[in-house]
Amino acid sequence: MSSFRESKILYRRLLGFVRPYWRIFALSIVCMVASAATEPAFPELLARLLSGFSQPTTTTYFIPLIIIGLFLLRGILSFVQDYAFSWVSNKVVTDVRQRMYDKVLQLPMQYLVNTNTGVVISRVCFEVAGVAAAATSVLTTLVSDSVRVLALTGYLLYLNWQLTVITLITIPLTALIVKQFSKRLRQASRGSQVAAQGLTQVLNETLDNFRIIKVFGGQARESQRFFGFNDKLRRMNMKQAAAAAASGPIVHVIAAFGITLVIYFALFQGKQGGLTAEQFVAFMTAMMALIAPLKRLADINAPLQRGLAAAEAVFAVLDEAEEENRGAYRFANPQQSLLTGPAQATTEQVQLVPALPKVRGEIALSAVSYQYPGANRLALDQVSLTIQPGETVALVGPSGGGKTTLINLIPRFFNVQEGVILIDGIDVREIELNSLRQQIAIVSQDVTLFNDSVAGNIAYTVTADHPDAAAQLRERVIAAAKAANAHAFIMALPDGYETLIGENGVKLSGGQRQRLAIARAVFKQAPILILDEATSALDSESERVVQEALDGLLHQQTTLVIAHRLSTIEQADRIAVLEGGKLVELGNHASLLAQEGVYAHLYHIQYNRSAPSSTTSAASVPVPDDGAIAVAPTTSTREDV
Ligand SMILES: Nc1ncnc2c1ncn2[C@@H]1O[C@H](COP(=O)(O)OP(=O)(O)OP(=O)(O)O)[C@@H](O)[C@H]1O
Ligand SMILES: [Mg+2]
Repeated sequence: MSSFRESKILYRRLLGFVRPYWRIFALSIVCMVASAATEPAFPELLARLLSGFSQPTTTTYFIPLIIIGLFLLRGILSFVQDYAFSWVSNKVVTDVRQRMYDKVLQLPMQYLVNTNTGVVISRVCFEVAGVAAAATSVLTTLVSDSVRVLALTGYLLYLNWQLTVITLITIPLTALIVKQFSKRLRQASRGSQVAAQGLTQVLNETLDNFRIIKVFGGQARESQRFFGFNDKLRRMNMKQAAAAAASGPIVHVIAAFGITLVIYFALFQGKQGGLTAEQFVAFMTAMMALIAPLKRLADINAPLQRGLAAAEAVFAVLDEAEEENRGAYRFANPQQSLLTGPAQATTEQVQLVPALPKVRGEIALSAVSYQYPGANRLALDQVSLTIQPGETVALVGPSGGGKTTLINLIPRFFNVQEGVILIDGIDVREIELNSLRQQIAIVSQDVTLFNDSVAGNIAYTVTADHPDAAAQLRERVIAAAKAANAHAFIMALPDGYETLIGENGVKLSGGQRQRLAIARAVFKQAPILILDEATSALDSESERVVQEALDGLLHQQTTLVIAHRLSTIEQADRIAVLEGGKLVELGNHASLLAQEGVYAHLYHIQYNRSAPSSTTSAASVPVPDDGAIAVAPTTSTREDV
């Protein structure tokens, strides 16, 4: 791809972001041009001063005062120009960054699977600033120094065109050399972006895996990994610095050749009487003034290429395909009755699409297959399963069997590749995404919380806007916490429901975090509840209490529950066994045990293993004396507890 055309496209797109602020931008450009256009005034004043030197007139004495005025004017113009430019540039950075963040929110799950978080973080946080460098400082130099060069060249031509021609010969030479550096610079700045992303990634991972690194003695390895990127960043920066540093002196040397030529020619012209001493001084002064802007124009390439490389990265994020959301059906929002918050869609949106009744919560999978991109086998293979409204279905099976994959397809985190998933008879792809997800509450396998208060985490996105609503909201939060068996521990926290729980809830235990996540799901009162290993971090006693609380709720909503501890799922209406992506068994606890298939096998293994343990599972699973109890009727299990 031609890099000039590429740059032009990028620059045009950048200017698109400047468009809303074009007035301030134009003001800045006007000041810039005006200030640069005054450039020849100084050599001209100098020439006049010299010509009046032997016999000063009143005008001659005014010249120093005019010089002060000139610099005062330039100072004011330059201030307005810089201030206005910074204002526009900061606006643009804020806009682009916000656009990127909003974009990230709309990206499909697949994007996060394929991209490392360091890349995203460094693009949104840092590379946008690199774009600003292109949009502003570069343009400042480009405009003002071009005008300066033009004005000075015009003045030189007016003074003596032959000398000017000699001066101008050096310019194309300079341009040629600059072009040579541009490619190298761009490559180096792309390299330094990659290295910077690597740094962020390693650091991120280190902080996430702090304990693991310490216990497994990974310091040396991680340090080595960090050094790899750190040093690469240095090398790339040095490449850029070398190219940038070399371009300046080279321009100077070429300029020196030019000056020497001019001096010889001037001496020759002077001897023939074609050039006065005053004219020569004015010419030399203006020519010297030409060098600085020329040098800056030559140097502009470094920040320009850096900025364009950053712009490329930024636009790559902005150009990512968003989650597909073509569905037009919209169910009644179950959160409508709740207080305030984004759950209440704008009336405009509601009118756009056919309004459907409240979801009953029937989920039907029909011959659903899914294969992760790049995987060599199906994660789900022709799975068919219909779940009645209000029914509780447990998904069990060996690790990697496809349970999490299945539940991820329902809120369309991923799209089915074959077959169809229906909710109340409507293909999930036909349902508007937000509306679909309003119907679903999830407790995921890896609990994630926000660095907010306990109450803020439970009532995530819902806020109250007046005191009555606040009291009502608090009541609902407490009810949800009680249902998740979290109320007691929350009350024991220093600030109760207002306690800040730290990044991802670091100040809580694993089981406490899990109970908050359950409370958050209960609070949502969605017609479909999905629990992926939601009780795995709880001790048996808490698990039983949470289970009972959930049992109370279960029949109000359709529930899909995944658990490895079979004791927690015996209560399900039906149990679906997934193995190797296939639905291999379906039935209730007793019937599956009687089948003596996969479920019975899993059950026996767990039984025998848990038999000697008196701490964790004893409370919920009756401990067989001889390990021979193959069939433990559900009812008796409950009663034993
Ligand atoms: N993002 C991914 N990319 C590629 N393959 C994946 C991805 N996520 C899961 N898989 C694969 O898909 C299969 C099913 O995974 P899934 O997470 O659904 O299993 P699971 O039944 O939930 O297991 P577990 O009980 O351990 O949570 C596994 O073989 C896994 O390796
Ligand atoms: Mg899983």
